[in-house]
Amino acid sequence: MKVLLLGSGGREHALAWKIAQSAKVEKLFIAPGNAGTQNVGENVDIKADDFEALKNFVVENGVDMVIVGPEDPLVKGVYDDFKNDERTKNVPVIGPSKSGAVLEGSKDFAKQFMKRHNIPTAKYETFDGTTVEEGLKFLETLKAPYVLKADGLCAGKGVLILPTLEEAKKEFKEMLGGMFGNASARVVIEEFLSGIECSVFALTDGKNYKILPEAKDYKRIGEHDTGLNTGGMGSVSPVPFATKEWMQKVEDRIIRPTVEGLAEENIEYKGFIFFGLINVEGEPMVIEYNCRMGDPETETVMLRLKSDIVDLFEGVAEGNLDKRDIEFDERAAVCVMLVSGGYPQTYAKGYEITGLDKVEDSVVFHAGTKMQNGKVVTNGGRVIAVSSYGKDKSEALQNSFTQAQKIEFTDKYFRRDIGQDL
Ligand code: AMP
Ligand code: GLY
Repeated sequence: MKVLLLGSGGREHALAWKIAQSAKVEKLFIAPGNAGTQNVGENVDIKADDFEALKNFVVENGVDMVIVGPEDPLVKGVYDDFKNDERTKNVPVIGPSKSGAVLEGSKDFAKQFMKRHNIPTAKYETFDGTTVEEGLKFLETLKAPYVLKADGLCAGKGVLILPTLEEAKKEFKEMLGGMFGNASARVVIEEFLSGIECSVFALTDGKNYKILPEAKDYKRIGEHDTGLNTGGMGSVSPVPFATKEWMQKVEDRIIRPTVEGLAEENIEYKGFIFFGLINVEGEPMVIEYNCRMGDPETETVMLRLKSDIVDLFEGVAEGNLDKRDIEFDERAAVCVMLVSGGYPQTYAKGYEITGLDKVEDSVVFHAGTKMQNGKVVTNGGRVIAVSSYGKDKSEALQNSFTQAQKIEFTDKYFRRDIGQDL
């Protein structure tokens, strides 16, 4: 079959790498892809949210399945757009419908959904420009630190955690005043939860689901989780506290009620669900939902998924995911992200990347790269995800750090403490 994958980051290179290994795939296209995805498929110069151009491409090239990497096209309704077009209505799109993507697109919706289905999450209330005073009063009932969340998509920047009531009140007013534009026209204020985070992923056909290997990501730019938030500086899988018993709680209290809740509410959902969890004294609670895979978690999860991912996608498309097998690699996998100096603030692009051909024993996923005059150059803050196996986490990390030294570009930076807190 012919498969089209949408997106251009490290997550998409990892998905493309896995999809390309399937015996069922005769041709893989990636729109728009990056300098790495072209090694496992054919890049197509169409933006992931240019639905008209994507549909034309699918029709003209006889594409049999579309897989969506990032949230943006999902929140904008790529699933529904394909379905509502006579020409593409029979081409399965792996990803939720627009109404399902709201689980990520609106924090308020996600919190209400969890409340309706008794899914464990932090206590919260939502406010807008007409309820500023009520919001300030609600803040007074909570203990520090204070968690403020813009309701809408903010490219991972919409959550503020403030140490004092005074700062929380100030930022709350600024958020409602347009700090994140329309995305913060509504603000969720929630109770702070203390614990270690873990990302859990399920693939669902709307009725059945398969749970993928869990992973932990490292969000801050500085070692020992200091400094600004980033898109993710590395990840590890498995996560030691995600024991069989803990994962059973996750399945019983969170995953199954979510999938059943979506079905009960007639929300079409055929794709990945990302559960951003926190372990509070042994009990899993939901911090957030995403309607896609995580980045850089996918870079380790794909290494640990042994089964044919396209077989699982067919199960999603046909609604018989329960008939498909899922197997994990017992080895550990880690990913260390090489980023541009200055990221997540200002940084330069266009530096040549060398040494990629010297890497052994690791899988190099490109995140922000592109081809320029026949050379691979930096094209984003997160540049390369060096992903490795090991008999355990330490061995895998050793592999990634050794290979990370061989790849060079101006002002390269990476965290050397990935996985050390576990
Ligand atoms: P989110 O975009 O909802 O994942 O939030 C970004 C990050 O903020 C999370 O990964 C957590 O580290 C942190 N966070 C969000 N909500 C809470 C909360 N209720 N308690 C503690 N930390 C939180
Ligand atoms: N790694 C977190 C995310 O993809 O949102």
